[in-house]
Amino acid sequence: MSHPQLNCQITLNTPFGAVLTPQFAGQQISDLSVTALRALAQQHHLLVLRGFSSGFSDEQRLTRYAEQWGEIMMWPFGAVLDVKEHPDAKDHIFDSSYVPLHWDGMYKPTIPEFQLFHCVAAPEQDEGGRTTFVDTTRVLAHVDDELLTKWKAVSITYRIKQVVHYGGKVCSPLVVEHPSGEGSIMRYNEPPTEGKKFLNKHELEYHGIPPEQEEAFHDNLQQHLYDPRHYYAHQWQQGDVVIADNFSLLHGREGFTARSARHLQRVHIQSNPTHANLALQPASEEA
Ligand SMILES: [Fe+2]
Repeated sequence: MSHPQLNCQITLNTPFGAVLTPQFAGQQISDLSVTALRALAQQHHLLVLRGFSSGFSDEQRLTRYAEQWGEIMMWPFGAVLDVKEHPDAKDHIFDSSYVPLHWDGMYKPTIPEFQLFHCVAAPEQDEGGRTTFVDTTRVLAHVDDELLTKWKAVSITYRIKQVVHYGGKVCSPLVVEHPSGEGSIMRYNEPPTEGKKFLNKHELEYHGIPPEQEEAFHDNLQQHLYDPRHYYAHQWQQGDVVIADNFSLLHGREGFTARSARHLQRVHIQSNPTHANLALQPASEEA
């Protein structure tokens, strides 16, 4: 597939997203129009840029590139998060365990529109560690009216201790309006899977579901989220750059072999205007 403003090869990913590959050897990512890439990311929700030259392992170059996308969301550690296993991890992010589906910024005052990932080093094929994505716009498009009405009545309170760079309490409806005002998206942070190793577990409190129906609700929701029509697990290759729409998608991670080479860099890009996190509960309300 060709694109009038993007001088590269584009193929559709299954079940969603687009894969962009170079038109010629040594092609730089910076050759590609950011305006055209942003429009493509908003259309497909996930872009995989594979085989380009980037030099992004240099944090400054990655940051300078990300600035072209918009305002970078800053964290206590700066613009770039190094996602890799820490030997003394206190939170699941820096462990080798799985990470349940969630949206980024859920405990912060603003929700970034995009995540820009760069794979510095990939685990081997048999070491796990795929990043998992669910396109919630597709989930909602495939759900029947009766279930959608039920889901729209559900809100969930999440609590997690702040042991690394995030934490607190949020309460979000399961189904919310897309920040653009067009269509709906889902906001959900899966509960920890029982029996799986997991540091710093979060807590969920469901509202709008009778307690005796919570388990059936959860099971049914999981089936929809992990339906192959909406779910994609990305196997990283060194040098991959992935742009993910943090509004439309939820994401997580499969567990991986401890001490594997897996190393990702991640930068958050704010929407324009920035999107305030309406689900955040003021600290004063935490009893
Ligand atoms: Fe995340």
